[in-house]
Amino acid sequence: MPLRLTVLGTGYLGATHAVCMAELGFEVLGLDVDETKVARLNAGEVPFFEPGLEPLLRKNLEAGRLRFTTSYEEVGAFGDVHFVCVGTPQKKGENAADMTYVDASFASLLPVVREGTLVVGKSTVPAGTAERLSDGLEAGLADGSVAPGVELAWNPEFLREGFAVEDTLTPDRLVFGVRSARSEQQLREAFGPVLALGTPVVVTDFATAQLVKVAANAFLATKISFINAMAEVCEATGGDVTLLSKALSYDTRIGGRFLQAGLGFGGGCLPKDIRAFMARAGELGVDQALSFLKEVDAINQRRRVRMVDLARELAGGSFGGVRVAVLGAAFKPNSDDIRDSPALDVAQAIQRQGAAVTLYDPAAMENARVAVPELGYRRNTMEACKGADVVLHLTEWAEFREMDPEVLGGVVAARNLVDGRNVLDPVAWRAAGWHYRALGRPQVEPLPVE
Ligand SMILES: NC(=O)c1ccc[n+]([C@@H]2O[C@H](COP(=O)([O-])OP(=O)(O)OC[C@H]3O[C@@H](n4cnc5c(N)ncnc54)[C@H](O)[C@@H]3O)[C@@H](O)[C@H]2O)c1
Repeated sequence: MPLRLTVLGTGYLGATHAVCMAELGFEVLGLDVDETKVARLNAGEVPFFEPGLEPLLRKNLEAGRLRFTTSYEEVGAFGDVHFVCVGTPQKKGENAADMTYVDASFASLLPVVREGTLVVGKSTVPAGTAERLSDGLEAGLADGSVAPGVELAWNPEFLREGFAVEDTLTPDRLVFGVRSARSEQQLREAFGPVLALGTPVVVTDFATAQLVKVAANAFLATKISFINAMAEVCEATGGDVTLLSKALSYDTRIGGRFLQAGLGFGGGCLPKDIRAFMARAGELGVDQALSFLKEVDAINQRRRVRMVDLARELAGGSFGGVRVAVLGAAFKPNSDDIRDSPALDVAQAIQRQGAAVTLYDPAAMENARVAVPELGYRRNTMEACKGADVVLHLTEWAEFREMDPEVLGGVVAARNLVDGRNVLDPVAWRAAGWHYRALGRPQVEPLPVE
């Protein structure tokens, strides 16, 4: 009999995990406290944008391997292994992670799980969380409020939005934070089809398992902020950060991934994870070890300010009476996630400074409209850019990368462009009469080659 798995919290991580585990052949029951989300998932509709997920959801619902519920009792009766995937957002006004949802989920789950089952934390949490939850579990086992033999494991998740299906079905590695051979065996069974592909697995203690995730995000954020710091220096020296980055990338010790200068990182993970990591380090008395992350965060924020400055410069020094078209609202392409999105942040700042902002994003329009209703939302690139004095390219969707400078030039009021992602071809845009600006690149139009 294949294991029966449950997934608690069916957001970006949990819905993907539930669908993919069903795709791997397990019987899966997903749970969320959001009834609308559960109803949509049961109807075969993914409540967010994630390429390739919806067909798999439908396929596995039809195959009878997957369904969703709001009942913890049902989940407890069903599952052999339970994956907790609820959110851990940043606390309001603080760097620390808000553990309310994780704690609530464990409090609902532990009293209803069956004897000998495994509860697996997947959410990204501050080091020490698994140990704290384990103490609670031990107390429940001792007073009989939790069924005998229930164990806890930590299995951090590294999926990337936009590639979530691929990353879940064929991850780079798995990390199992366990305290017993039985827990490890249960996890090996739950990930059997993934391990059969030869996926490396690192078995660790709880502390390391929790740290791997935040360390990975801290490293990625640092790499992005490093090249963005170089962009700042390029701006001061007249250098071109795209060439600098290209030259660095040939060094195999450095590598070219996550080394593109631009508007920086955002989303529901990197920013809040590095902040929570710093906050936790402070509590542990090792804040100095992570003080560089403060600068990583600051560099990232400064790119947003610089983008606003560049747009203002192109607009003639002031946003008063200026129309600005913003292309992109999601924090990255192939996602509708607008959490801490640099694009939306810049759009809001510019509107606040007096410009009329029109915005288009291929997937994140609804989320953006709910979060920032005061912007002018348009149905496509051409409508967003119609009559614009300045166009800002802020999320590198493929359809923006492929824009024709001549065609777009026909609808704007003035051919002014800031490429916040350094992916458009300055030569082509300048040849079409555009004033092209970008982060970390020479801001003067090059002299025409004789
Ligand atoms: N999004 C990603 O790419 C990604 C990648 C790796 C790790 N993570 C981590 O995974 C966790 C979840 O992130 P997400 O992006 O999926 O968040 P999300 O906000 O999209 O989803 C969280 C879900 O949990 C539900 N929930 C809240 N309280 C609950 C409870 N008590 N019981 C059941 N469900 C409850 C919410 O309704 C929501 O649907 C976070 O810790 C995040 O850092 C996310």
